[in-house]
Amino acid sequence: MGIKFSEVTHTFKNPDGKTRFIAMENINLDINDDSEFLMVCGHTGSGKSTLIQHMNALLFPTSGKLDIFDRVIKPKRNRKLNEIRKQVGLVFQFPEYQLFDETVLKDVMFGPINFGLKKEEAKEKAIKALQMVGFEESLYDQSPFRLSGGQMKKASIAGILALEPKIIVLDEPTRGLDPQSSAEVMELFDKIHKEYNKTIIVITHDMDIVSKYAKRVVVLNEGKIVYDGSKEALFTNKDFDSFHLDYPSSMKLAKKIKDEMNLDINTNVFTLEELMDEFISSFIFFASFILEG
Ligand SMILES: Nc1ncnc2c1ncn2[C@@H]1O[C@H](COP(=O)(O)OP(=O)(O)OP(=O)(O)O)[C@@H](O)[C@H]1O
Ligand SMILES: [Mg+2]
Repeated sequence: MGIKFSEVTHTFKNPDGKTRFIAMENINLDINDDSEFLMVCGHTGSGKSTLIQHMNALLFPTSGKLDIFDRVIKPKRNRKLNEIRKQVGLVFQFPEYQLFDETVLKDVMFGPINFGLKKEEAKEKAIKALQMVGFEESLYDQSPFRLSGGQMKKASIAGILALEPKIIVLDEPTRGLDPQSSAEVMELFDKIHKEYNKTIIVITHDMDIVSKYAKRVVVLNEGKIVYDGSKEALFTNKDFDSFHLDYPSSMKLAKKIKDEMNLDINTNVFTLEELMDEFISSFIFFASFILEG
């Protein structure tokens, strides 16, 4: 049992104060609390952040209901949500919404202390989490608001890791990070997922991340789920063009090689390593054909 959305709709008030805007409509979604590596995709404004903010009850449904572990979340009043926030850790799209304390270390310690740990234990967990995301030790006592965007992102991720939640939800975790930090962060979540069987949910616009790490992909379009399945079936889906997504670089490059070099290679390759393997086996086939005369 993890998170289950049943016919969930969420609307926001329009600026006129009378009408409402439907950000998410009739969502049915089942997420296991182990072994899922789920990516949520879709164009800007399609409802991704709205969707995931329901997963730890930051937003309540306007209609429908959610089951989050053993709690049922319904429209309007829901009390005592602390336990849910510990089970489902959510890293915000914009880290400045999450950080607030005087120093980075205090900020990361806040969650564990809030959930009942003693100061020393909280400090241990915070330092472990900061080390996991590769945060520079020299900045532990810095104000979080004097950090660069990438450092802020890492600090906000550490704040959630320190809670050791059962499910980790990340809204665009690699946004603002340089390519190396971005790869390190994704490798870290891949490792956490594999070693502890933890469910990881990631919103991303980066199709190279989807093609490398996702086990399951949910695509939103205008607040509705238009695709829920494997990445392999996503990129070969007949409706792919209507999803407003790009292809991963490996597939784009494979198509270019196939067309421009007239090589008959499989273009459904999800990483550059897979593309290289395709290229090499096709080259070996071609060479043996020539050698055999
Ligand atoms: N607090 C709010 N009040 C009013 N409208 C909102 C609010 N939050 C989101 N919306 C609207 O709901 C829609 C979905 O927003 P959401 O932030 O979920 O999109 P998104 O898919 O995460 O987009 P992005 O890729 O740009 O982050 C958008 O049209 C947005 O303007
Ligand atoms: Mg968003």
